[in-house]
Amino acid sequence: MSATGRSMALTPPEVLARKGGVPIVCLTAYTTPIARLVDPHCDIVLVGDSVGMVLHGLPSTLGVTLDMMILHGQAVRRGVERALLVVDLPFGSYEEAPEQAFRSAARVMRETGCAAVKLEGGESMAETIRFLTRRGIPVMAHIGLTPQAVNTFGGYKVQGRGESGAAIERDAAAVAEAGAFAVVLEKVPDALARKITAQIPIPSIGIGASPACDGQVLVVDDMLGMFSDFRPKFVRRYAELGNDAQTAIAAYAEDVRQRRFPDESHVFADEPAAGRKAGNA
Ligand code: KIV
Repeated sequence: MSATGRSMALTPPEVLARKGGVPIVCLTAYTTPIARLVDPHCDIVLVGDSVGMVLHGLPSTLGVTLDMMILHGQAVRRGVERALLVVDLPFGSYEEAPEQAFRSAARVMRETGCAAVKLEGGESMAETIRFLTRRGIPVMAHIGLTPQAVNTFGGYKVQGRGESGAAIERDAAAVAEAGAFAVVLEKVPDALARKITAQIPIPSIGIGASPACDGQVLVVDDMLGMFSDFRPKFVRRYAELGNDAQTAIAAYAEDVRQRRFPDESHVFADEPAAGRKAGNA
């Protein structure tokens, strides 16, 4: 933020204005170093509650707390300058009533400096979305497969096939009408995602949805090949960092066992060498 109070970061209205334009790029981030890597390339950086599964080894997102989201939101904030920072409201922090959602969202915004929150749910959350957006809290909605409802769905299944697609169309219309500036469409059939994208006035951000969506989001650890507990069909792996890390760690272990590491370049002389930096001398 500059002295004039103007931030360089993309704003929710600017994201909204991208409807039907150049696709909106969104990735998750949970830490400062990854935030610094994704920020120059993304329009939206999402601190997703997927952090629970990806970084904390939880079996689902249900165990993620508001404090966890705030801690990771603060870390990501330090690495984001130009993208819109959005933080997920975790399970149990907003569903009870619009007032509860407001308290949680206000705390997240105050303590992380994010410019918007994301919450799961369609028609059932429209009143809450309206309550928040009328009180200065921009909301990104999330419909289709909403992972916090995994127990209701009985697994991470494609949502909205056949007749049930109509309910997701109603969800999309409801969150748009309630004031959401964008909506994540997760794991719905391509044809349904295309139809919804054409019907609603706000950007659709697809994950396992359709190339016709107004934007795309992926979990960064999935696309970098760092999270391999499972491999969703909708992920394209742009790197295999998990494999590379395994190879590097095995090489280090072998070097230590064979006394190949450290060598003379990693150790310190009794007297500091003249002209070298303090930490290296
Ligand atoms: O929690 C998350 O990372 C998400 C994205 C996958 C959309 O909600």
